[in-house]
Amino acid sequence: MILVLGATGKVGRALVPALLDAGAPVRALTRDPARAVVDPRAEVVRGDLDHVESLPLAGVDRVFVLTSGHGGDTVAQETALAQAAARAGVSRLVKLSTTGVHFGQTDPISLAHARAEQAIREAGPAWTILRPGAFMANRRFWLQSARTDGAVYVPEGDPASALIHVRDIAAVATLVLTTPGHEGATYELTGGEALTPEQQVKILGEALGRPVRYVEEPEPAARARLLALGWPARAVDGAFELKRQSAGREHVVFDTVARLLGREPLTFADWAREAVG
Ligand SMILES: NC(=O)c1ccc[n+]([C@@H]2O[C@H](COP(=O)([O-])OP(=O)(O)OC[C@H]3O[C@@H](n4cnc5c(N)ncnc54)[C@H](OP(=O)(O)O)[C@@H]3O)[C@@H](O)[C@H]2O)c1
Repeated sequence: MILVLGATGKVGRALVPALLDAGAPVRALTRDPARAVVDPRAEVVRGDLDHVESLPLAGVDRVFVLTSGHGGDTVAQETALAQAAARAGVSRLVKLSTTGVHFGQTDPISLAHARAEQAIREAGPAWTILRPGAFMANRRFWLQSARTDGAVYVPEGDPASALIHVRDIAAVATLVLTTPGHEGATYELTGGEALTPEQQVKILGEALGRPVRYVEEPEPAARARLLALGWPARAVDGAFELKRQSAGREHVVFDTVARLLGREPLTFADWAREAVG
């Protein structure tokens, strides 16, 4: 049985069906099963990473470890989870981290992942670390203004980025969770090409079937926009600090997805077509 943390989030919603399609039994974790939208073939279980005793580890042999970027002490959560998993006889932990750790970034998000990676490595079960770069799915919030104003507002200085599709992360995670040979490996994961925000907006416009203007916003306005979308202030600060530190690196393309999956990564145009529905 594979316990999937973050099963209701961006990565988890892609990973649960991918594992089930590969024939693996899945236990999907959420704090609120009544609200959770999860593939009906999975067993949905309640649990909270802030209360390690609530985690349903009995009968679990592999865990996909994902904590939210939006709050909670993720290092404490992952340390407690890894130790509880070891006590429960779990044989393999696969942790979702970030390329920020590969690049030695010191923003709060990358630092927390670096510490959590260490806890996973030290816990006892075999481990694999997946370090994706920025997700295409982060661009979903562009859709609203693209539709209402015919424009997308992008923070000034946003870099070219080799964005990755969450289904590619899910495909790699499925491979690593269901086949041997990945123990002790750390994989950096990106899409196949770096695109500037302006190029991304153009592709989104093509998917929508109408031109969408690309508008650069000064940082204070960009911060206010994220706060208005409901982001906690701490998450906004962390995201901007991460962005500042990753700006010179987000264009770097790793060939890991193609190497592991034997096919090219999904493109931003693939993502945009699906996102506009
Ligand atoms: N976005 C990016 O560009 C990017 C790039 C690299 C790495 N990452 C990393 O990806 C991770 C986020 O993945 P995501 O975007 O797929 O997540 P997400 O969409 O933000 O969803 C968060 C998930 O965490 C669960 N969760 C939150 N608090 C919890 C708690 N106390 N106990 C149990 N579950 C809890 C939520 O489940 P319920 O609400 O159902 O309980 C939900 O499934 C972060 O570690 C982030 O640093 C993101």
